[in-house]
Amino acid sequence: MKKLAIFASGSGSNAENIFNYFKEKPEVEISLILTNNPQAGVIERANRMNIPVIVFNRFTFSKSDKIVDLLKNQGIDWVILAGFLWLIPKNLIEAFPNKIVNIHPALLPKFGGKGMWGHHVHEAVVAQKENETGITIHFVNEKYDDGKVIFQAKCTVNEEDTADTVAAKVHQLEYEFFPVTIEKLILG
Ligand code: GRF
Repeated sequence: MKKLAIFASGSGSNAENIFNYFKEKPEVEISLILTNNPQAGVIERANRMNIPVIVFNRFTFSKSDKIVDLLKNQGIDWVILAGFLWLIPKNLIEAFPNKIVNIHPALLPKFGGKGMWGHHVHEAVVAQKENETGITIHFVNEKYDDGKVIFQAKCTVNEEDTADTVAAKVHQLEYEFFPVTIEKLILG
């Protein structure tokens, strides 16, 4: 069985979607949910899904081995970032080489990097009058949104679109493609 840990900083709708996708698949387990944000909506979702949730602060995450040790002790095989806003520290990257996967709500390398998260991304896409956007699922390295691309999916953007309508279209792509891309990746 492959064990996944999901990191999220916000609502956690992707985390819940991934959990639901694998609920009937015994070969994959969502073993742990971790967040840097004690107010994150993902905490309530984790409680509802009966998944242990860990809340950590910046020192624990970026300046100690506590999180890496915890993931190793729990036998975690893959780390999934689903709306996690902090840079991944070197010790975590090294502990899970090519086993940390992120989803970004744009077609990287466009609209990526520090500060480009959530609504900011969709506002920039609309402001630049792009005619398409989408999602990028990629391996994580020590820079924001910079690792090898695994999968991308697109949706159109037209002049009537707002950041909100773009966000809704992108979320649909996330829900449709993130779990199945993870499944292909971890089960081959
Ligand atoms: C998603 O748009 C994802 O692409 C980005 O952060 C957002 C997380 O949303 N990385 P949620 O917390 O899963 O609802």
